[in-house]
Amino acid sequence: AIERTLSIIKPDAVAKNVIGKIVSRFEAAGLKVAAAKLVHLSRGEAEQFYAVHKERPFFKDLVDFMISGPVFVQVLEGDNAIAKNRDLMGATDPKKAAAGTIRADFAESIDANAVHGSDAPETAAVEIAFFFPGQNVYAR
Ligand code: CMP
Repeated sequence: AIERTLSIIKPDAVAKNVIGKIVSRFEAAGLKVAAAKLVHLSRGEAEQFYAVHKERPFFKDLVDFMISGPVFVQVLEGDNAIAKNRDLMGATDPKKAAAGTIRADFAESIDANAVHGSDAPETAAVEIAFFFPGQNVYAR
């Protein structure tokens, strides 16, 4: 089925100047960019976005990292987009990510892991609405 998912290129990958290389992987896999922007999150915004993790021991480090610089946020659209994006990203911990995945190639650590992607249709809808409220997503 055609799905939409939220992708974040995190501050580490933006700082490395590999936004284009990562977007190319999405496009090469048949995903289309339906919305995109560069944004520097406030602490409150990052805490809200990652609220599901607020009791986890890594929450403070996660928020500190996500506000350390701008992030490139996209809505990706395509067949099976949620799982496809997660396959392209690889495992959360880059040390465990399969060769050829975005995290294996561009990430340094489980915190600075280059990208985020929605994990299910319900979270994708919430995450897309968080960054792109209203009609600012374009059918491709
Ligand atoms: P992300 O997909 O953005 O969702 C939450 C983030 O928390 C995750 O990627 C990691 O970058 C970060 N994180 C740090 N430590 C852990 C951990 N032990 N388990 C899961 N995520 C972690």
